[in-house]
Amino acid sequence: MSNDVADLAYLAAAVCFIAALKALSSPRRARLGNAVGAAGALIAVIVVFVAERPDNLLPILGALLVGGAAGLVSAQRVAMTAMPQMVAVFNALGGAAGAIVALVELYHNAEGASRGQLAVAGFTILIGSVAFSGSMIAFLRLQALMTGRPLIFPGMRWIFGALLAAALVAGVWIPFGASLWVAVLLTVVSLAVGVLFVLPVGGADVPIVIALLNAFSGITVAASGYVLSNSLLIVAGTLVGASGALLTQLMAKAMGRSVGNILFGAFAGGSTLGAAAVSERPVRAAGPEDVAIQLGYARRVVVAPGYGLAVAQAQHALRDLADELESRGVEVLYAIHPVAGRMPGHMNVLLAEADVPYDKLKDMEHINPEFRTTDVALVVGANDVVNPAARNAPGSPIYGMPILAADEAQSIVFLKRSMRAGFAGIENDLMHDPKTTLLFGDAKESLRKLVAAVKAL
Ligand code: TAP
Repeated sequence: MSNDVADLAYLAAAVCFIAALKALSSPRRARLGNAVGAAGALIAVIVVFVAERPDNLLPILGALLVGGAAGLVSAQRVAMTAMPQMVAVFNALGGAAGAIVALVELYHNAEGASRGQLAVAGFTILIGSVAFSGSMIAFLRLQALMTGRPLIFPGMRWIFGALLAAALVAGVWIPFGASLWVAVLLTVVSLAVGVLFVLPVGGADVPIVIALLNAFSGITVAASGYVLSNSLLIVAGTLVGASGALLTQLMAKAMGRSVGNILFGAFAGGSTLGAAAVSERPVRAAGPEDVAIQLGYARRVVVAPGYGLAVAQAQHALRDLADELESRGVEVLYAIHPVAGRMPGHMNVLLAEADVPYDKLKDMEHINPEFRTTDVALVVGANDVVNPAARNAPGSPIYGMPILAADEAQSIVFLKRSMRAGFAGIENDLMHDPKTTLLFGDAKESLRKLVAAVKAL
């Protein structure tokens, strides 16, 4: 294969990646987007084999086989709620791969490399190692293998600063003829920087830091593309870097926080997680028959789904209830909060699984003015995303986060198992509102009972 043909094939793969990202931005075309992205990756792998004719074919094919099988099995087995952890592991691998490539290049080819290439190799080691160790800490947190709370110790910010400075010095030294040991030292110091970077970030902020580390791993890949003179790695890495950075900003905005506050808030003494609160105040609980009357005779019901919908896997039962209500002439809409659940787009994916029509899914900005004219806000396994403390309790961990205006509906119904708090660990006054009714139980069970009760009306 000539170089020109290889470049053209790389260009085709790059176009696939861009088209895939575009398609992934809409639930309707997301599957297609995935397939187009996978096709781009396949083209890229084939071109490497045909154009570059790598040595050590057997170990490479063995690694591809093992990696491919591990990816396939884990992607098939992973629970939807564990997706952020999986993304964290993938980021870690991307960062580690980039750093290792740069180390190996320094080992073999440092003599003939230009100063620019050496500088980029140093940068790749730094950012790749940070992405690896930071992502592993984020993984351990989300997998509950270590505490989810921010971890800080006295003098931490100084140690972090000193290590970062040491890493920068080592990185700058590399293009000026430093020995390989400096690169190894840079790796170790950068791994420590990654750990200290993520330890102070806890609670709901962990997924945001994962998005940021995703951007880091993309930048690592782009930089290693420069080290290896591979244009496709540069394009693909830049795409990952840019989309990770945008996602970080969008998630931070959805939580009403700045990225700086999320990353360094705990250094300044702030906590991102409240105490796990269980309220003793009275609430109004009801049975499925009473709630069915409320729903069945409403003109409009707006569903506010949250993490509990995913835990209960209640999306199909929810769809059944909506069908039943719609057959009685009730308008049913879905209010989608950008950080409902545990990953971006979590509710969209769940509801798409149950074939809920996309035009019934309304973004927060579009649905919020509608709550005032809504008869029932049906809160299914959600808590923080409808908690008015975000508006009126300065000092609360979710203060400033835009929320669904469920409290403005004529009446509110919560489907949840207990009075336990949501992710942020804080009480929700909306549960004690005189307009609110609670139907206790697993969301799927409660929805099934509601379907039967509405049918019987
Ligand atoms: P949460 O505030 O976490 O509340 C979920 C509620 O679901 C809980 O109060 C729980 O109450 C209930 N629940 C759990 N299992 C249930 C089941 N089987 N049946 C019925 N109810 C069940 O969820 P949310 O309102 O979706 O808010 C999301 C939170 O996660 C926000 O704080 C957000 O910042 C954070 N977060 C979001 C993301 C992204 S990107 N989406 C990532 C990380 C963190 P019971 O235990 O009483 O049932």
